[in-house]
Amino acid sequence: MKGWSSRAGVNHGMEMVGWTPTGWVRGLEKSANPSNSPSPGKGTCIPCVVKKEIPTTWNEIRISKDSKSEKSGFFEYPDLPTLIVISLEYFKLLTDKEHMQHSCGYYANGATTYAESQVEKLKLIASKLQLKPGMTLLDVGCGFGGLAKFMADKFGVTVEGVTVCDSMAKQAQNHCRGSKVTIKNQHWRRMEGKFDRIAIIEMMEHVGKQNWDEFFTIIQSLLKPGGRILLQHYAVDPGIPHFFEFPCKYHFGQVYFGGLDEFVAYSTRYFHIANVQDFTLDAEICAKHFIEMIDDNREEMEALVGPKLVRALRVTYATALAGSKSKGLKIYQTVLVGKDDRNRVPVE
Ligand SMILES: C[S@@+](CC[C@H](N)C(=O)[O-])C[C@H]1O[C@@H](n2cnc3c(N)ncnc32)[C@H](O)[C@@H]1O
Repeated sequence: MKGWSSRAGVNHGMEMVGWTPTGWVRGLEKSANPSNSPSPGKGTCIPCVVKKEIPTTWNEIRISKDSKSEKSGFFEYPDLPTLIVISLEYFKLLTDKEHMQHSCGYYANGATTYAESQVEKLKLIASKLQLKPGMTLLDVGCGFGGLAKFMADKFGVTVEGVTVCDSMAKQAQNHCRGSKVTIKNQHWRRMEGKFDRIAIIEMMEHVGKQNWDEFFTIIQSLLKPGGRILLQHYAVDPGIPHFFEFPCKYHFGQVYFGGLDEFVAYSTRYFHIANVQDFTLDAEICAKHFIEMIDDNREEMEALVGPKLVRALRVTYATALAGSKSKGLKIYQTVLVGKDDRNRVPVE
């Protein structure tokens, strides 16, 4: 690990800053290494990149006003000054251009490209949520606003999208201009209002297990009676090492992928699980598509952040590919409803 420090110091027109505190490394080891081997001593470091002039990704969480003033999921390690702030243009290269999605698509209905799989995923979400004109939808972790715009334009719902990243919120606002969408740059702890439907697509990974109760309590308070929630979330089975969290940290900060068993244990304190769909085969195809996107855009990506970070990203998706192929890493789409809800939730 120590060798990283000098190698990470290559400057690609950016300011290179800071080192991961031992506490974070310790936190990572807890999840990445079940044997809990002793944490490295002081001076251990992990490369991080700060491009000051373009503030950026959801890792911006660590420097946003919101996250400074309060604890947030796994980002809440108190000694976490490390910043991985990467150009938003870089992340846009990892989305479909029309709906700007950065999450696993749905391939079961014949989609063969990443872009097609995103449309299929959005249609599937709309169908399970049974969206009707006039309904209100909250998109927690709305990314670039693609889901919000799609649902507002195609189904006549009024959408509020929430993302903790300021610059991403601005991009989402631009993307949703003219649609019945409000985008807020907000931490999930600050969300307010009442909604008929809530979508949480690959965002719960950022919450941290120690905050799941609080997260579900807030989500419950935001849901109208008879309301419905759709989550798309990663999962790691009990006994399987949480290896995927390690490469993720270079781009997405510290994440936690709970097992489905943990998800059930926590979510059923607040909701009834109305259906669960396995997306692991989709995750496998999607990981291949992310690797292709990296390979196709390598030059542009390297110009933005340098080759090391792009390599780390490729390792992340190669790990996701191996993980989903071996079923060590899974993705599920889960629908939650109130415990007294007696409506049927469509499977597709
Ligand atoms: C992997 S992206 C998924 C984006 C989008 N749902 C999609 O499918 O393209 C995770 C999203 O969660 C948001 N997020 C992470 N931590 C958050 C927090 N504490 N509060 C609100 N949003 C958060 C990020 O800003 C980002 O938009």
